[in-house]
Amino acid sequence: MKRFFTLGVVALAFASAQALAQQPIVIKFSHVVAEATPKGKGALKFKELAEQMTKGRVKVEVYPNSSLFKDGEEMEALQLGSVQMLAPSVAKFGPLGVREFEVFDLPYIFDNFDEMHKVTNGPVGATLFKKLEGKGIVGLAFWDNGFKVMSANKPIRMPADYKGLKMRIQSSKVLGDQIKALGAIPQVMAFSEVYQALQTGVVDGTENPPSNFYTQKMQEVQKYLALTDHGVIEYAVIANKKFWDGLPADVRGELQKAMSEATKFANDIAKKENDEALEAVRKSGKTQILTLTPAEKAAMKKALVVVHKENEARVGKDILAEVYKATGFKP
Ligand code: LMR
Repeated sequence: MKRFFTLGVVALAFASAQALAQQPIVIKFSHVVAEATPKGKGALKFKELAEQMTKGRVKVEVYPNSSLFKDGEEMEALQLGSVQMLAPSVAKFGPLGVREFEVFDLPYIFDNFDEMHKVTNGPVGATLFKKLEGKGIVGLAFWDNGFKVMSANKPIRMPADYKGLKMRIQSSKVLGDQIKALGAIPQVMAFSEVYQALQTGVVDGTENPPSNFYTQKMQEVQKYLALTDHGVIEYAVIANKKFWDGLPADVRGELQKAMSEATKFANDIAKKENDEALEAVRKSGKTQILTLTPAEKAAMKKALVVVHKENEARVGKDILAEVYKATGFKP
């Protein structure tokens, strides 16, 4: 009798171990933007490829629009393992203590995506990812969004037009200095709160690429958008290090392939997504799009490049020199 009981227990334990082994590995991928954006579509592409390439051994749950964690919560959630993957803007790593990422926020440092890719796919990108490891985070890829525009409810063509405006920014000191350099007042705020803050007048304006502007319906609460191209939104796709290192090697290999294909996909669509979003804003007729004259753009650049010197120590002299070398930027 005792022998049958023991056999029963062993069989049960074996069956549940079997069942567990057959359970898919779940990756919760949380982000703060809409699905119809370069990052939103990139995350869904990763889900599709990861599930396909691992033949269902991995299940990716994508949580867009801050539906799981919002700005200010998601990094800690990742470190705690409550979520396995994120793709925050590189402007949001300062609070984590890796402020060198703010080199991407320096105004006018990039003229085009090629220059940015020399940085993200070069030694600087690798150095920045290395700095994340001590935080229990592994860097997987850099995803593009696009060049930022400025928006407000008054015509903003020259630096003086920003005087006294409350401008929403991401949690970056470099971006704070950029807004102060225009005589405006920076206000750090979670992305999910921007629309309402613009609607109620808590802030007067903000900066973002057209894909975020349009998908967050900012045309409803912003009368003017200036094509400043003064900076970029770039993403770092990151994972919880313990989770990532703990994956079976073959599964991690397939996920890395899925990530590099999804990265190519996301970066290939980024510019088109932003061009189409800008056209949609224009068509909405709700926001006037201001194309700056060369003189106005030069005045903006002159007003903003002071921020580089002010933040040389913060982003790291070596990192800054590497980025200048890669982009040919002359301060
Ligand atoms: C923002 O907060 O404005 C952006 O970083 C949002 C995003 O992820 O594109």
